[in-house]
Amino acid sequence: MSGQQAPAASNLAGPQSAPNPNILETRDLSMVFGGLIALNRVDLSVERDTITALIGPNGSGKTTFFNCITGIYKPTRGQVSLYPADGPKISLRGLPADKVTYMGLARTFQNIRLFNNLTVLENVLIGRHSRMKAGLLGALLRNKRTRQEELDAIDYSFELLVSYGLDHVANELAKNLPYGDQRRLEIVRALATEPKVLLLDEPAAGLNIGETAALKDLIIRVKEAEKISILLIEHDMSLVMNVSQKIFVIDYGILIAQGPPEEIKSDPKVIKAYLGEE
Ligand SMILES: Nc1ncnc2c1ncn2[C@@H]1O[C@H](COP(=O)(O)OP(=O)(O)O)[C@@H](O)[C@H]1O
Ligand SMILES: [Mg+2]
Repeated sequence: MSGQQAPAASNLAGPQSAPNPNILETRDLSMVFGGLIALNRVDLSVERDTITALIGPNGSGKTTFFNCITGIYKPTRGQVSLYPADGPKISLRGLPADKVTYMGLARTFQNIRLFNNLTVLENVLIGRHSRMKAGLLGALLRNKRTRQEELDAIDYSFELLVSYGLDHVANELAKNLPYGDQRRLEIVRALATEPKVLLLDEPAAGLNIGETAALKDLIIRVKEAEKISILLIEHDMSLVMNVSQKIFVIDYGILIAQGPPEEIKSDPKVIKAYLGEE
């Protein structure tokens, strides 16, 4: 790796070269835990304005992938690159989680992580905090500008609750919401960070049929309304096949297939990986 020279012309290619169709790319992404290779040289791309899915049997490395690209784990090797439409490539590898959020990746968790004893609005405000400038000192001094920023954050967060149908419970404690609404709240909190890419880790887990149908509509609406890309980890195959334009399949940390839903559905490698699961 270290001995290689970048092609000399690469820095000059900028203005003429077509914009990258992908908003997010990993190259050669690997994560080793002790003797276990949880991710093995994963090249995954998320195209702009699409919903992309990452599927695979339990323990195949999906959540580890999210942890590696969001700064929770530092990958053992490889690159994680974000290509904003309005600026140069950003390398995310090695950045701390809050920096990654600021750069434009927001996520939800397989096991819901809300602040149970805060209100619905307060949970969204915490997401919004990543876009606020005042910082701790400003919050302590509470000057006029800081107060205005807080009011703006409350407005912004409340508007999101209105958009996604949670304003009527804005002052409820998060723990008192039905499970489906807690999932929804987690997504809204992620949106408050104004992401370029939204990462959802098994959002349908634990939802009933009606809640899953509502989630499907929500995912599609979020993509359209916020004009963002979504990377979805999900076990509910009907949900995945319904919303995704492209699917990546991982097994034992290795990508074994990628393509549109119709292709993935009938791919013998994918069927074999899933049949081996039970
Ligand atoms: N922090 C960790 N330390 C050691 N092993 C881990 C850690 N996180 C995940 N793993 C292992 O990595 C593999 C992939 O796990 P995970 O990414 O959670 O799978 P998935 O989300 O696809 O079900 C599993 O074998 C798991 O036990
Ligand atoms: Mg997982």
